[in-house]
Amino acid sequence: MASAAYPVLQTRKGNWRSNSHYRLKGLNIPTLNTGDPAKLEQYLSNFQTKSDDVFVVSYPKSGTTWTQEIVWQIHNEGKVSKEIIGRRVPYLEFVTVEYTEKPDFEALPSPRLIKTHLTADAIPKGSDESSRCKYIYISRNPKDISVSLFLFIKGMMGAENTMENAYNGPWEFFVDLFIEGDVPYSKWNDHVLSWWKHREDPNVLFLKYEEMQKDLPSHVRRIADFLQKPLSDEIIDRIAEQCTFKGMMRNPKTFKITEGDDDIGLILRKGVVGDWKNYFTPEMNEIFEKEVLAKLKGSGLEFEFEP
Ligand code: A3P
Repeated sequence: MASAAYPVLQTRKGNWRSNSHYRLKGLNIPTLNTGDPAKLEQYLSNFQTKSDDVFVVSYPKSGTTWTQEIVWQIHNEGKVSKEIIGRRVPYLEFVTVEYTEKPDFEALPSPRLIKTHLTADAIPKGSDESSRCKYIYISRNPKDISVSLFLFIKGMMGAENTMENAYNGPWEFFVDLFIEGDVPYSKWNDHVLSWWKHREDPNVLFLKYEEMQKDLPSHVRRIADFLQKPLSDEIIDRIAEQCTFKGMMRNPKTFKITEGDDDIGLILRKGVVGDWKNYFTPEMNEIFEKEVLAKLKGSGLEFEFEP
């Protein structure tokens, strides 16, 4: 439902087109996410946090689902559920979605576990102790993110209800769009830096995908400690095993955008560090270093790009 206040934004080059977006809360939100951008923006602006809310936050394709599953298992003492992840840790920006089930955050039992891709500036915040909640931000190197996002968005082409929003160009064009921020949630560097600035806040835990890959048990412990969930070493180790890529692949259809037996919107793909090398040319790499990674200079934020 485009309007003068919320025009549909789409970048084109010849027959190629980017995903279509609305601009709200200062970010590109896929048109597919909402039937009513004005209502969504109002909802996000008025969302009332509770002190025991836990937000799993990320730029898309950074390991959001992985972190959602870890957080859910921590809250459920290592239980494994086959219920789709979007029901257990629902996506905030889906409150006005039309192509799939809308989450109801008012009906969600406490503590509410919530997924979102909002920046630190845009995210709902409590104004005092009684409403100051926790945020777990998962970050990942942008080269692997861009590949993962490209393949994910391209894969959505197959579904009838996602077609109109789907990207239809090649990888080379996608790299340009990623650098320019003409992708969901806009520029990666702005997003990650918005949260990096808050890494020392007592209610923020800033994580890196590549470090989580290297030592999952210690990260599960860190997350449990941050959430003040005292768990035994045995449960921590069990969660870590269940949340490896292999462990989560035992139930791949639990980790989909929408429920159903089809393969559209499957989230687990390769789950490795360094897949970007199979896609980046030396020229792309050079442009990426200059246009994306150079923007982190002086911030102290660095990423690993090799397994
Ligand atoms: P790839 O496409 O590189 O494989 P998000 O949940 O933010 O959309 O991120 C999806 C990415 O996280 C995908 O990356 C997916 O495979 C990866 N991922 C999901 N679960 C994982 C796990 N348990 N271990 C490692 N990577 C995982």
